[in-house]
Amino acid sequence: MAVDSRLAPTIFHMRKDNVPAGVQAKLLRSARKAMKNAHAPYSNFRVGAAVLLSNRRIFPGCNVENASYGMTNCAERTAIFSAVAALGPKIEIRAVTVVNDQGVPCSPCGACRQVIYEFGPNATIFFEGADGPEQAQITELLPYGFRLK
Ligand code: THU
Repeated sequence: MAVDSRLAPTIFHMRKDNVPAGVQAKLLRSARKAMKNAHAPYSNFRVGAAVLLSNRRIFPGCNVENASYGMTNCAERTAIFSAVAALGPKIEIRAVTVVNDQGVPCSPCGACRQVIYEFGPNATIFFEGADGPEQAQITELLPYGFRLK
């Protein structure tokens, strides 16, 4: 059956991109390892992230806090910015995994959702939800993400 062309963009953005179990496990290991490098003396909440690119490369990140609290960088953005620093702005994010050292629910904050969306409008996010590990598309976490072009 033909799909109404007006619906196509929505369907495209909601498409689930399956990340193989072995790659999910690799992302988790990378995020957990990066979490150990967190600089979180103010919140004592250590976060690790790992970003999977469409070229299959994985970049880790951790939260980096500052005595001037607002300067804090989340684990997700650390990982994304280091991928851009290494490979340039044409990267495409396929998935992001987030872990924390308290075993509490933790999905990416609003700022990180917007940054993930910039480089991965179809990205899948793996995070700790209220009832255990969860997975969601970035467009589910951030409907109507901002785009300039
Ligand atoms: N944090 C992250 O790194 N990622 C998240 O998804 C949620 C919050 C950090 C920021 C800050 O260093 C600490 O967690 C407490 O908010």
